[in-house]
Amino acid sequence: RPRVLSGIQPTAGSFHLGNYLGAVRQWVALQESHDAFYMVVDLHAITVPQDPKELRANTRLAAAQLLAAGLDPERCTLFVQSHVPEHAQLGWVMNCLTGFGEASRMTQFKDKSAKQGSDRATVGLFTYPILQVADILLYQANEVPVGEDQRQHIELTRDLAERFNGRYGQTYTVPKPYILKETAKIFDLQDPTAKMSKSTANPKGLINLLDDPKATVKKVKSAVTDTEMEIRFDPEAKPGVSNLLTIYSTLTGTGIAELEQKYAGKGYGALKTDLAEVMAEFVTPFRTRTQEYLDDPETLDSILAKGAEKARAVAAETLATTYERIGFLPAK
Ligand code: TYM
Repeated sequence: RPRVLSGIQPTAGSFHLGNYLGAVRQWVALQESHDAFYMVVDLHAITVPQDPKELRANTRLAAAQLLAAGLDPERCTLFVQSHVPEHAQLGWVMNCLTGFGEASRMTQFKDKSAKQGSDRATVGLFTYPILQVADILLYQANEVPVGEDQRQHIELTRDLAERFNGRYGQTYTVPKPYILKETAKIFDLQDPTAKMSKSTANPKGLINLLDDPKATVKKVKSAVTDTEMEIRFDPEAKPGVSNLLTIYSTLTGTGIAELEQKYAGKGYGALKTDLAEVMAEFVTPFRTRTQEYLDDPETLDSILAKGAEKARAVAAETLATTYERIGFLPAK
């Protein structure tokens, strides 16, 4: 079976709809056909300041949400990044393989550091994509299911894998991004030209999966559309309506064309009312399941411990080969 690997940050509170539709949903599907490794990236999380208690709670919360979304520990390997020390170790090796200019071109760092100011942005934030490279190469992943905003990091991974292979001999699988066109970028409900993100200016544009479903219904109903009347998929001319159609179509498995037909001659109100219902039906059981996992932290922690053990077996082998190729003296 081909292998996939992906990761998600343990953010405060809840995953948002973009995380789910852009990435996690694909993770769930791919565990059926692939040898799948998924992790909560707590090492990545500390590139910005974190309260220790909250980080610990958010890491469990992230794992609980992944299980609630449908990850099955019998079908995939679910683990926490810091439980596998090889990530930091290979991260260093990859740091030493990356050009300073090359790292400087990563657009996510530019965006994030611009928001924080260059004195507050850490060196960790700067090398963040390089740690991500290590994450992927450790598992010899063939594909990496992510949203569009991660594409550049996968390209860097490919470059570094090829560079290492060229210099030291075939060592790493060169991975491909697995990005579904339809859901590669879910947009903010209030500003449908910006991607949905935790750092949005207007919280009404962000659907947090663990919010009270009533709040979610309200946000859907107040989503920004346009001044026409027609329900038509046209991301250029009608970004708001198109975003709603994408969300609706993905959550229900109904084709966009079918939805366009269904709402022909009807107003935006009808579309929003129905989508609000679809969304409530999705988030309500999701919240319940997440809470069930949180209520049983022992089971949750033991799932993560088993996952870490499986992950380490793979990661340790890749790291050992890497060290040997580089010329590190074996410790014996
Ligand atoms: P993170 O935690 O920011 O996001 C998790 C996943 O959600 C996707 N995503 C979106 N997809 C569509 N529309 C949106 N509006 C949207 N917002 C977020 C992201 O593309 C991502 O797939 N660097 C990564 C975590 C990471 C990782 C890895 C991923 C660390 N190591 C190794 C893959 C492989 C990140 O910060 O994702």
